[in-house]
Amino acid sequence: MLLLLLLQVLASCLWLGRSEVVTSFESSCPQFFFRETPPNEALEPESPAWICQHYQNQYFFATLYDRKRRIPVYSAYVYQPASGKRPKTWMVEPQLIGPTYPKSMEREYTLLKYSKVSLEEISNSQAILQDYKNLTGLNRGHLNPSSHHSNTTSRTATFTLTNIVPQNEKLNGGAWNNYEQQMMITRTKGCNTTYVVVGAVPGNSYIAKGRVNIPSHIWSGVCCEVDTNHRKAWAVIAENDKNEVQVLTLGELENELTQLYGRDQVSLFDSSCPR
Ligand SMILES: *[C@@H]1O[C@H](CO)[C@@H](O)[C@H](O)[C@H]1NC(C)=O
Ligand SMILES: *[C@@H]1O[C@H](CO)[C@@H](O)[C@H](O)[C@H]1NC(C)=O
Ligand SMILES: *[C@@H]1O[C@H](CO)[C@@H](O)[C@H](O)[C@H]1NC(C)=O
Repeated sequence: MLLLLLLQVLASCLWLGRSEVVTSFESSCPQFFFRETPPNEALEPESPAWICQHYQNQYFFATLYDRKRRIPVYSAYVYQPASGKRPKTWMVEPQLIGPTYPKSMEREYTLLKYSKVSLEEISNSQAILQDYKNLTGLNRGHLNPSSHHSNTTSRTATFTLTNIVPQNEKLNGGAWNNYEQQMMITRTKGCNTTYVVVGAVPGNSYIAKGRVNIPSHIWSGVCCEVDTNHRKAWAVIAENDKNEVQVLTLGELENELTQLYGRDQVSLFDSSCPR
């Protein structure tokens, strides 16, 4: 009897220690959101997974993942750019396979080699590398880009496929890259802390035999704290079939997203960010 009880306690400890896919960002990784306030539920898909992105014993950003379309809804992070090399690796999320899998992102190869999991099991729960092979005119677009982070570990953590969408190749290397690099540097002058939420609006077509959705739009909302009493905000949106980025106010982006998602009024940040 005692043994049974002990086993139960042990089992629940293991369970608590390993299962992740959190129930809310507020309870597990609020630090990636301005005033610890994630976007409202107007963006939530039918089968959401809240992921506090974990790598090498640390959380680096947060992603709301759409399990059905196998793309992120958005990734949220604090902007801390630095120059440095672009990591060369791709990872998946064991925690999406099931609650007994570890919470840290992992390379497909390592996961296949060291845990009793098949590629099919991984692919049932999320996009895998194979899905992004042989694309024409599209490539792997980061929502949270590696260049917005300060060191090798934080940069590498952005290379999880749960942070990736099929993005128009020209846009990814052109106008969107310009937003990520020049525009962000210029516009964040004087910002003490800069919070970013980058997302993708689901489209009507798919890659990989219907497995992974091709977004119709990619967007980003930025809220910057200049000091305790001053904030500024702005936003961008791009259609995923044009090499063009439109700059707008945070309020304008939220209204456009409200139309595009077709549900409640979208709110990306706490109300103290100027619209
Ligand atoms: C990708 O294309 C190559 C050559 O065009 C082909 O041999 C291979 O089977 C394709 N792979 C997939 C996953 O479609
Ligand atoms: C990398 O950056 C993260 C986030 O800013 C920080 O917490 C971590 O300590 C840094 N790691 C190293 C090795 O500098
Ligand atoms: C800038 O941010 C840091 C960390 O959040 C904070 O300690 C500091 O007081 C802020 N500075 C200003 C001028 O608001």
